[in-house]
Order: sequence, then structure tokens, then C-alpha cells
Amino acid sequence: MRAGVIHEMRLGILIMAAGKGTRLHSKRAKVLHEIGGRPLLDHVIAAAARVVAPHDIFAIVGHQAEAVETAVRSCGVRFVRQEDQRGTGHAVQCAEEATRDYDELIVLSGDVPLLQPETIIALRDFHLRQQAAMTILTASPKNPVGYGRVVRRKADAPEVTAIVEQKALTPEQEQIREINSGIYAFRRSALYAHIGHLRPDNAHREFYLTDLARILAAAGERIVAIEAEDPNEVLGANTIAEMMDLDREMRSSAARRLMAQGVTIFRPETVVIDPAVEVGPDTVIEPYVQLLGGTRVGSDCRIRSYSVLDRASIGDHVLIRNSCVIAESQIDKGAEVGPFAHIRPGCHIGEGAHIGNFVETKKTRLGAGSKANHLSYLGDAQIGRGVNIGAGAITCNYDGVGKHETIIEDRVFIGTDSALVAPLVIGEGAYVGAGSVITDNVPADALALGRARQTNKQHWAKNRRALLESRRAETKK
Ligand code: UD1
Ligand code: CA
Repeated sequence: MRAGVIHEMRLGILIMAAGKGTRLHSKRAKVLHEIGGRPLLDHVIAAAARVVAPHDIFAIVGHQAEAVETAVRSCGVRFVRQEDQRGTGHAVQCAEEATRDYDELIVLSGDVPLLQPETIIALRDFHLRQQAAMTILTASPKNPVGYGRVVRRKADAPEVTAIVEQKALTPEQEQIREINSGIYAFRRSALYAHIGHLRPDNAHREFYLTDLARILAAAGERIVAIEAEDPNEVLGANTIAEMMDLDREMRSSAARRLMAQGVTIFRPETVVIDPAVEVGPDTVIEPYVQLLGGTRVGSDCRIRSYSVLDRASIGDHVLIRNSCVIAESQIDKGAEVGPFAHIRPGCHIGEGAHIGNFVETKKTRLGAGSKANHLSYLGDAQIGRGVNIGAGAITCNYDGVGKHETIIEDRVFIGTDSALVAPLVIGEGAYVGAGSVITDNVPADALALGRARQTNKQHWAKNRRALLESRRAETKK
């Protein structure tokens, strides 16, 4: 069966994403604003791609078209340009040529990002069963203000006679609670036979796709509506405040899912958890934690307040203390990190290892049981097992031009406040004396001292005090 073909019917999905988003007052195109850590359009494409192949998805782009295309190109969808944005009806009109090969079209809005694939499938199946020319996905949210309202032929009958935009509602129609979600299914032939009849005779001087309900009904075509089971799924985002409502909904549903799987989240309304995050049972997440991207956390961990984990992979029994920043790195079982540690991309902290306060690591492997407990920078370093990095030790990995690697073998002891000038190999079991500047490799089991030798001057302080006191006595005379 060819992708997009269902019961010998060819189905394509259009996503309207060309609008400017005037009500956002933002320089960025609306569909590129992020909720749940990803652009609005990304969420809509992900849902559509669970119903048809990416090749059968057409994103209609216009405002900041290049930026929008670049942001989602890797999804494999196709693009249709709407050069001037003259309304939702005009957007769909622009896709006529591109969608020639399809029998049925589902139209989604790029700014309705919580929509689930199951709901698109329910819309498709209802549309086909009803043999309708147009099927409208509707909802009855608590507050319908701002949405177009759906006028049914009779309450409880599936047939629709019109969609009326907020600004055109009669006082009587203002009582209607059923809204147009901006999501539709069309028999393609009926859609394009009538789309040329749209007129911009409305408050915004735009071609409204919604007017097709009235036009098709008047032409004797069958227009029906199906109500979404969960009205939250079809909430749109026209302002930043509405977008943040959707973001909160998405993140709190991620928190609820994790709690249902045995994760303890204190004050869940304060945490920010992206939808793809996974956390094992009996892990405790404290207030104001952020778990972002595809972060994975094992079981029996504790993530203390104010820590931000972005695309991190955390084993079981790990303790992340307060205010750590961990990105694109792996922390193995039983390790302890923080407080106030910065684990930058490309790090691997081994089993049972400790990273303490004010330690920054980048592209560094710290072997099992090794410790860097205080005030260090470890960059481009391969550090073995059972190593102790003293307070304030620094890998000097950058010479102003290139980056160089530091290799510290198993059971090495790096004294406090050492500067390790890379490239460098410190052999197994070696010692580096505190305060050393190490510029040459250190053989295994050696002691390296890279500092001026200490000299003690006997009685120097006492003699100086005596001298100063006798001078003062002279001047008083
Ligand atoms: C639209 C519906 C309204 C519905 C609501 C649901 C119309 C006229 N009204 O209103 O009945 O209740 O959605 O959220 O359709 N777009 C383009 N090209 C354009 C104009 C818009 O691609 O020329 C895109 C936008 O980027 C957006 C989508 O179409 O993703 C919807 O447009 P928007 O202006 O947000 O419509 P609403 O006023 O929300
Ligand atoms: Ca909208």
C-alpha cells in the first residue's frame, strides 16, 4: 500500500503556517515560537506524520518562509508558498497544484499544537463514513470567545450550515459554545470546485476558509462536524499568553505522566518537563527543576532544586544537588554532582564519581570513583578511575589557537591549585604537587613538582619588627 493511501483513497495533510501572528507582537514567525521546548509547527507535523507519510504533508509557508522551512526541513515534509497572506482560504487555495494527486485533504493549523494523531484519525474516519464534502473538528471549551462558532442544522445533528467568526456573531450566535478548531477534512474535488467563490467581505478583508461551510452547504454539499473528546487538544495560540497556557498544559501533562509512573515531584507546578523526558520510578524531583529535550533519568535518583538538565542521560541512584546545569552528557550510576556544577556537552561522569561545587567540565570523561570536589575546570580531558582532582585544579586546554587533550591515568593524585598545560599525559598512580604548573608528561608513579622551591629565612620577621620599632622610637624623640 502506498503511503497516504487508505482504502484506495489518497489522503494528504495541509498545515497552514504562513500567517504573521500579528497578535504576538514578535519579530519571529508565530509557528516558530516554542512550547514544550519545540516550535509550534514541529508539534503539528509530528502529529500529522503519525497519520500519513511525511511526503504527503504540505506545510503552507509565507511569512519568514525560509526560516520556517529551515526549522522543519529535516522532517521530510513538502512546502507550498503563500507569498501574500490573504487569509486561511487563500492559504489552502495556494496548495491546489501541489495536492493534485490526492482525493481527500485534512487541513491543520500550525498554531494548534496539542492535537493528537488519534484525533486526526477520528476526523478522517468520520469524514469518510459521513461521505461529507467538508468535516469540521469542533470543541466546546469553557471559554469560546475569540473562536469561530459552528452553526449546526439542528442541535445533535451532524450537519453544519455555517461557521461564523467571532467578530460577525449575532447576539444569538454568541450563545453557541461549539467552536471551530481550525481543523478540517475536505473531499478535494469539492474544495477546489468552490474555493474560488470566497470573498474578502469581512472585518479583516481576508479570504476565510471558514466561509466554505456556508458556500458548500448552499451548493447542496454535505458539511458535518465532529466534536473532539478533549477540548484542550484543539486550543489555538494567538497571543504569547495563550501560548504559555499551552506550554503549561503540555509540561504539566508530562509531569502527571511521570508521577503516574512512580516519580515523586514536589510542587509539580514549578517544574518544567518536556514531553519526551523519561524518568525511572522512585526518583525524587524537587521544586524548580527543569528536565529538557530527550533527558533520561534513572530510578532512585534525586534531582535537587534549580538544576537544569538538557538532553542529559542519568543512571540509577544518582544525586544531582542544587543548581547544576547539565547538557548533552552522561552521568553513570551512583554518581554525585553539585551543588553549582556545570557539566557541558560531551561529558561522561563514571559510576560513583563525584563532581563538587563550582566545577565545570567540557568534553571530559571522569572514570568510575574519581573525584573533582571543588572549584575546577576540566576540559578535553580523559580521566581514569580512582583519580583525585584537588581543589582549584585546572586543565589549560586552550593555547589561544587550538584545543588540546589532557590524559590522566588511573589513581593519579592532582594537588590543589595545579595548572595542567595540555597536551599532557599524567601516568598511572603519579602525584602532582599542589600549586604546580605542569607542562611536561609525568611518568607513572612519579611525583611532579612544577613550582618554585620554598626557602625559609630564619628570624627574618622578628628582626624586621625590631627594626621598625627602633625607627619609630627615633622619630618620636
Ligand atoms: C481560525 C478560524 C476560526 C477558528 C480558529 C481556531 C478562520 C477565518 N478562522 O481563526 O474559525 O476558531 O482558527 O484556532 O480561518 N494562516 C496562513 N495564511 C494566512 C492566514 C493564516 O497560513 O493567510 C495560518 C496561520 O499561520 C495559522 C492558521 O492559518 O497557523 C490560522 O490562522 P489565524 O489567523 O490564527 O486564524 P484564527 O483567527 O485563529
Ligand atoms: Ca489561530
